[in-house]
Amino acid sequence: MIGVLGCGNMASAIVQGYFQKDNNVQFITYDPNQDNAKKLAESVKGEVAENIDRLKKADSLVLACKPQHFNDLSQSLRDSGIDLASKHFISILAATPIEVIQKKLGAKRVTRIMPNTPAFVGKGMTLVMHSDDVEAGEKDLVQAFFSACGEVAEMPDETTFDQVTTVSGSGPAYVFLFAKTMADKLQSWGVSEEQAKKIAIQLFRGSSELMHAQSDISFQELIDRVTSKGGVTIEAVKSYQADHIGQLTDKALDAAYARSVEMTKEVNQ
Ligand SMILES: NC(=O)c1ccc[n+]([C@@H]2O[C@H](COP(=O)([O-])OP(=O)(O)OC[C@H]3O[C@@H](n4cnc5c(N)ncnc54)[C@H](OP(=O)(O)O)[C@@H]3O)[C@@H](O)[C@H]2O)c1
Repeated sequence: MIGVLGCGNMASAIVQGYFQKDNNVQFITYDPNQDNAKKLAESVKGEVAENIDRLKKADSLVLACKPQHFNDLSQSLRDSGIDLASKHFISILAATPIEVIQKKLGAKRVTRIMPNTPAFVGKGMTLVMHSDDVEAGEKDLVQAFFSACGEVAEMPDETTFDQVTTVSGSGPAYVFLFAKTMADKLQSWGVSEEQAKKIAIQLFRGSSELMHAQSDISFQELIDRVTSKGGVTIEAVKSYQADHIGQLTDKALDAAYARSVEMTKEVNQ
């Protein structure tokens, strides 16, 4: 049985995604907001824990509240009488290292996860890192759970985990931003808002699927295949390169990582 603590958007996406693939798994949900807990439990034919101590029957516990609510949640867990050292915790909390979770809960076996919002449509990219004591069966559960809503990649250490998060976790926002610049330009040429949005969405959707279908081909080769010497596309590509698109990305991701380091300190004071 899997316990879910905090039943908001992300927990609902991953739990419902997994349930669609394997409806034999049993869930028990807990959230101080009982409506959230009930809604999620009903959607996966699970049960609601009115009190946190009912989670003692779960083998793995998914921590899915906001990082700023983790102090309250860990206090409730410590007061619950549950033998926390015997449980496997799967945390999706941003900016919360494994060691912090172990210390606050007196837990040993902790898996840190970073999902992203494309998990809502089954195309997520989930980062995973396990503490030393996590057992093989628990690792398999995590792999099955998160591959139900997309791809999974294991990280070697938490520095890398936080760096990669600036791409996989935050990345949907950059893609939407780039799409917006395209739609805005179309509108400046007189295309209606509705049509501009449709064209930008289909551009990203089609290009993503093409990249995926042709993943054996390098990014440069994919670019070369849509650009010919003296053609139209190469002019835009050259303009982006002249404006150092690579350096812009470097700078943006470094800024996101710096904020991640800062946030980890703030949240875990
Ligand atoms: N959304 C993303 O893109 C994303 C991506 C990666 C990771 N994450 C991580 O996922 C976690 C959840 O994010 P979310 O967007 O799903 O947030 P959310 O929709 O606000 O869900 C959080 C849930 O936790 C509940 N909660 C509050 N205090 C609690 C407590 N003491 N014990 C148990 N549950 C409590 C909240 O109840 P109330 O509604 O009453 O406050 C809410 O139902 C965060 O830690 C975030 O860092 C999110």
